[in-house]
Amino acid sequence: MTDKQIRELLASMSLEEKLGEMTQMAPNFFGTEDSVDLTGPMKQMNLRSEDVAYLGSTLNAFGAEKLIQMQKEHMARQPHHIPLMFMADVIHGLKTIYPIPLAMGCSFDTGLMEEAAAMAARESAVTGVHLTFSPMADLVRDPRWGRVMESPGEDPVLNARMTEAAVRGYQGDDIAAPDRIASCFKHFGGYGASEAGRDYNTVDISDGTLREFYLTAYKAAVDAGAAMAMTSFNTIDRIPASGNKKMFRKILREEWGFDGVAITDFSAIHEMIAHGIAADGKEAARYALEAGADIEMMSAHYLNYARELIEEGKVDIGLIDEAVLRILQLKNKLGLFENPFKGADPDKEKEVHLCKEHLELARRAAARSIVLLKNEGGLLPLAKDAKVGLAGPFADSVDVLGGWAFADSAERATLLNGLKEHGVNITATAMTQRMGAMQRGIMDVEDQTAELTALADCDVVIAGVGEHPEDTGESASKTVLRLSHNQEKMLERLHDMGKKVIAVIFSGRPMEIRPVLPFCDAVVQAWFLGIEAGPAIADVLCGDVNPSGRLSMSFPQTVGQVPVYYNHMNTGRPLAGKPHRFVSCYLDCPNEPLFPFGYGLSYSEYRYSGLSVEKAVDAEDGTMLKVSVDVENVSDVAGRETIQLYIHDVVASVVRPVKELKDFVQVDLGAHEKKTVSFKVTREMLSYWNNQARVFEPGDFEIMVGHSSEELLTARVTL
Ligand code: GLC
Repeated sequence: MTDKQIRELLASMSLEEKLGEMTQMAPNFFGTEDSVDLTGPMKQMNLRSEDVAYLGSTLNAFGAEKLIQMQKEHMARQPHHIPLMFMADVIHGLKTIYPIPLAMGCSFDTGLMEEAAAMAARESAVTGVHLTFSPMADLVRDPRWGRVMESPGEDPVLNARMTEAAVRGYQGDDIAAPDRIASCFKHFGGYGASEAGRDYNTVDISDGTLREFYLTAYKAAVDAGAAMAMTSFNTIDRIPASGNKKMFRKILREEWGFDGVAITDFSAIHEMIAHGIAADGKEAARYALEAGADIEMMSAHYLNYARELIEEGKVDIGLIDEAVLRILQLKNKLGLFENPFKGADPDKEKEVHLCKEHLELARRAAARSIVLLKNEGGLLPLAKDAKVGLAGPFADSVDVLGGWAFADSAERATLLNGLKEHGVNITATAMTQRMGAMQRGIMDVEDQTAELTALADCDVVIAGVGEHPEDTGESASKTVLRLSHNQEKMLERLHDMGKKVIAVIFSGRPMEIRPVLPFCDAVVQAWFLGIEAGPAIADVLCGDVNPSGRLSMSFPQTVGQVPVYYNHMNTGRPLAGKPHRFVSCYLDCPNEPLFPFGYGLSYSEYRYSGLSVEKAVDAEDGTMLKVSVDVENVSDVAGRETIQLYIHDVVASVVRPVKELKDFVQVDLGAHEKKTVSFKVTREMLSYWNNQARVFEPGDFEIMVGHSSEELLTARVTL
């Protein structure tokens, strides 16, 4: 339809139709009788069956046949036959599940991220989905928060690059294409700063911190053309995001020029009553309408109160029309008025889901997301003739896909299956009882350490340990980040038996692994890697893939250190050298994390030399410095290195981080191969938010290049 036709359609719609377009309900609301929804019965929302005919979208319904039927029924009921939008939480794949976003962040591979998102789009579009509530672009610094698993990590630049890659992958050049879906970035904004890592908790950060760190990736999503933004549950400046004009009117739309649709998170408008900013649903609706929340997800205050608000002159009908126009324009961009079923295809669905190419991509992504944290004495890769023991609750577990995974079966994803496929000589197994979930009241595995004697004749033991995926993601905050007691006991016992121990950690967050590090000769952070987890882990353990992952989020020494992140400020009393009194340090713990952002080992060894930083002003692209460095692979094993460029603005009008990632590049280096890698440092990279605007200030800068945020060559330059 033309924009003119869209505006004519808008003008012909009743107020109820308009308010229905602005309301999203779960698929079970589209039954014929009053059905119970996830947050209570329809009548609790004061929703009438006839209201259902007006609803504009639904979420997390799947299946080409089902969605085609739902669309047909809905359009027959809707007075202007306006099609539904089908939205879903496709966070890291639909059927072919790839690694959780925190793990994908460790790949530092934006091309891979884009490929994986495009795959997710193909599998989603063919099943009838039009839009995904992804990427989650929340910057995260607190592993107590279960939702760190959904984020690309703690750095603004890595987050931004991975976020824009995901948006490109989902949307391509045209969201109306049968194999593409629209992208809704979330949760705007600053949800990752929830106090104490407790989900849905207060966020209270300065505007400067918000803009310098937390908004960067959302802005990247907008610049990449994301079709939708989702509000977050938290407050910003003590106003809930869903009713926050500063966030939605000022920053998102006026400053960034976002003209897409804004949707609230699940019942977030209703929750403004609990927040204590709205006395009732009517006031909550007014807040949200004034802030510009176009679609209300899973509460019905627009439908129930907007007419009254308009009649009482408290809300202008123009706000409604503005919101509905954006919604209709999105449906038009999706091509739904011409083809309301879009890419839904029951026959193609079967051939696209879990196809060979997708499984291969998932396996490649999984291997690239693995981070080798320790490899004492080069224990890995496994010796071909090693007699291998297998232990731990994740030794043979299907619970390795990660949260938000709608996959049907995961038998092939187990570590045992991966090792078997590789022909690893597993001579014994012990204490492999699968991990239960704290969400279901199970706090540990049974103490079967007595069984470990069965592994006495093994040369090496692979121990699959970690946390249950249900104890990660939404509503999964923890105050203890250690492995469960009996898992720690198992690792210690294996060590005491004189076994070489390879710990493979399955988690959705950095865990507190300092207590078990001495018991492990090698530690592989395997996150939740999706449908090809086991085969990919075996690819790395057996040396078919040389691990190249680098941490997207710091691992704390202890939860008492949290939040611990690399791009921190120096303070007025920095800890320099040995800890002593009256400087910023702890009595009982170093300041540094156990493993820092950007860290990861390989089977290769890379050596950096010859850092060169030259002034090279180029008004065209804003270049101010040309940086180059030599990187040599001094080992016999070819590998992929992620070369990271950081800056430190030594003196500025506001306090600046001790270092900030500004660019990274990946190079493949053959055995004993050396390459020179170059970077351009632009004015934008050297600029920052000075509490009023983004500015560049002349002065001294340290330019750092290296293997991680801790292993860097440094040069100082004055601009
Ligand atoms: C949830 C999550 C959000 C998700 C939405 C729809 O509460 O906060 O990330 O997209 O509801 O499922």
